[in-house]
Amino acid sequence: MIPLARPALEEGDISAVVAVLRSGWLTQGPAVAAFEADFARAVGAPHAVAVSNCTTALHLALLAAGVGPGCEVITASHSFIATANAIHLCGASPVFADIDADTFNLAPEAVERLIGPRVKAILCVHQMGMPCDLPAILAIARRHDLAVIEDAACAIGSEIRIDGAWRPIGAPLSDAACFSFHPRKVLTTGEGGMIATARPDLAARCRSLRQHAMSVSDADRHAAASVTTESYAEPGFNHRMTDMQAALGRAQLPRLAATIGERRALADGYRARLRGTLAIRPPAEPGWARSNWQSYCVGLPAGADRPGVMQAMLDAGVATRRAIMSSHLEPPWRRARRDGQTISERISATHLLLPLFAGMTADEQDIVVNALRAALRAALGGA
Ligand SMILES: Cc1ncc(COP(=O)(O)O)c(C=O)c1O
Repeated sequence: MIPLARPALEEGDISAVVAVLRSGWLTQGPAVAAFEADFARAVGAPHAVAVSNCTTALHLALLAAGVGPGCEVITASHSFIATANAIHLCGASPVFADIDADTFNLAPEAVERLIGPRVKAILCVHQMGMPCDLPAILAIARRHDLAVIEDAACAIGSEIRIDGAWRPIGAPLSDAACFSFHPRKVLTTGEGGMIATARPDLAARCRSLRQHAMSVSDADRHAAASVTTESYAEPGFNHRMTDMQAALGRAQLPRLAATIGERRALADGYRARLRGTLAIRPPAEPGWARSNWQSYCVGLPAGADRPGVMQAMLDAGVATRRAIMSSHLEPPWRRARRDGQTISERISATHLLLPLFAGMTADEQDIVVNALRAALRAALGGA
């Protein structure tokens, strides 16, 4: 069976976790602080705040950017539902703008059309690792005095060219960028998330809220020479990361560039194999974007029955998944303010994800593409 994704863990990563288990400090401790410092350096951000997952990262970053009850936040429906749910967790409402058909990310002109008096922020997504048109979104935000938070759940190591220079996603361009370390992501801690920001005030508020707005951290109380008692200025959350997770993530950071190089070679391998194949649409990377290829999403030809294609591929030993969902089609968000969502719905209905993981071989890519071809021939009646 060829899986859709596979975590790329090594013995050294496992030893790093074991060392934490032996250390006596298991959560919100020195391994978390070390992971934050290394992560900040890796993405070129002045501050990084580790949390329990990307949903909680988005929640805290939005709150810290001033999003609260009565506000609206413009975002993509074409995303995992966590994006919209994070806005709801702040007491605010998502407003869905349609996407660009090539990058599957917010179309800037669609965002601008939806701006109204209650809109406080734009939550843009770098979907499946493909950078969104951040410069255009930042320009809109500046014109309308809005915060910009990046949902970079899938985008660790992706890059965007701005003013002629390549910048990693997470570099200080917006108010904050939020990452996920779920096992389907390029770097994993099982569950985990990170907020990268250039704003010291935003970082400080996220650090406070992730730990019940505690005035003195556990680490500072532990290090204090005199008895220190903490206070709690406002209701906060437990969105902490454990030290086992942090050690696992930190151990993978030094090989991030190599992992992404391998994923980019695999994406090139798919593109070459799929060229001219039964009208399949491989994903397109604009000249100003470098994806980490967290997922590889192809468009099926018109008339192909997607569930049938996916089942035939599963029967041939190849796992696939449907493309990114359109959140406005799910019960919680059916009545959300939005535009037509024509592109979002079309992509959600007609695309699917192919396996792509570190260590994937050329033979495995051949098997995937041959299974896709056979499934499509059957679905399209021998085309
Ligand atoms: C675009 C996007 N945003 C947010 C999330 C939520 O991340 P997490 O599972 O770490 O909470 C995901 C997870 O897959 C995602 O793909």
